[in-house]
Amino acid sequence: MDKTLVICASGNVGSELVRLLRADHREVIEATSRKELKPGQVHLNLITKEGMKTAFDGVSRAFLLSPPGHTNQHELMRPVIGMAQEKKLNKVVLMTAMGANADDTSPMRKAEMQLENAGIPYNIIRPNWFMQNFHTFWMDGILKQGKIFLPVGKAKGSFIDSRDIASVAYSLLTSDQFSNRDFDLTGGRALDHDEVAYLLTRASGKKITYQDIRPDEMLPGLLSAGLPADYAHFLLMILNYFKLGYAEAVTDSVEKITGKHPRTFEHYVEDYKNMWMKS
Ligand SMILES: NC(=O)c1ccc[n+]([C@@H]2O[C@H](COP(=O)([O-])OP(=O)(O)OC[C@H]3O[C@@H](n4cnc5c(N)ncnc54)[C@H](OP(=O)(O)O)[C@@H]3O)[C@@H](O)[C@H]2O)c1
Repeated sequence: MDKTLVICASGNVGSELVRLLRADHREVIEATSRKELKPGQVHLNLITKEGMKTAFDGVSRAFLLSPPGHTNQHELMRPVIGMAQEKKLNKVVLMTAMGANADDTSPMRKAEMQLENAGIPYNIIRPNWFMQNFHTFWMDGILKQGKIFLPVGKAKGSFIDSRDIASVAYSLLTSDQFSNRDFDLTGGRALDHDEVAYLLTRASGKKITYQDIRPDEMLPGLLSAGLPADYAHFLLMILNYFKLGYAEAVTDSVEKITGKHPRTFEHYVEDYKNMWMKS
């Protein structure tokens, strides 16, 4: 029977993908960088390369992505794509990010091109900004000051629920219908951050507003939160792309691949509203 390796299996996308595969009685092996393993897990550290050889034992399909916080995504992905090629996997789904294909010299694009040229069936998925960022990355300002602080002006983003990304990955891993194609993944509509703040407020009952800030005002907070300086600057660069309107486009890829409409922002806030009710 097919065994699927899921990288970053405890993350936003990976955990839901594992759930979907197991619910469908498919064999899954969860990669983790942690040393203490639970049943169904295998050790694989993309930075130190520990576990690289054993993680692919008996595997025929794989979901690959780079953990956040790194700007050298191709360095992290090169060995796993190489292993997938060496093991002649039946399908590899690589997740990068919307816009990754704008520049052939960018690390994410280099990883995509390595996979495109590996001679094995693949898909590349490029999600837009996750809805889930509002209860993770941007949560500190929301909980402490009731504010979403971002340097993105009035620009809109077609935010996607990471659970829909997992549904897409599940469909692509378990079917060959769309093999060797790449997809930009978005939610069904684009919202600006005033609209986001309104929806968070309405669902949680806590007053949340959006405050446009300058990139240089955001930088100290990113650094004091422990982000490496190069990644903090990378984040500010892609937030500037958001401000310039590059995150506004809406695609029909989620529906085309899964047969279901992407979750709405209202659906997301309803499911997670307890997170913003904390003080
Ligand atoms: N957030 C967004 O808006 C957005 C938009 C587009 C694309 N993306 C892309 O999404 C990816 C992140 O996905 P996500 O949000 O699902 O992940 P996530 O929730 O941030 O989880 C990160 C995962 O990385 C694993 N990890 C950490 N260090 C590792 C290492 N050294 N080796 C192997 N695994 C390691 C962690 O698991 P263990 O602790 O078990 O190892 C964890 O499961 C990034 O590549 C980012 O560029 C994000």
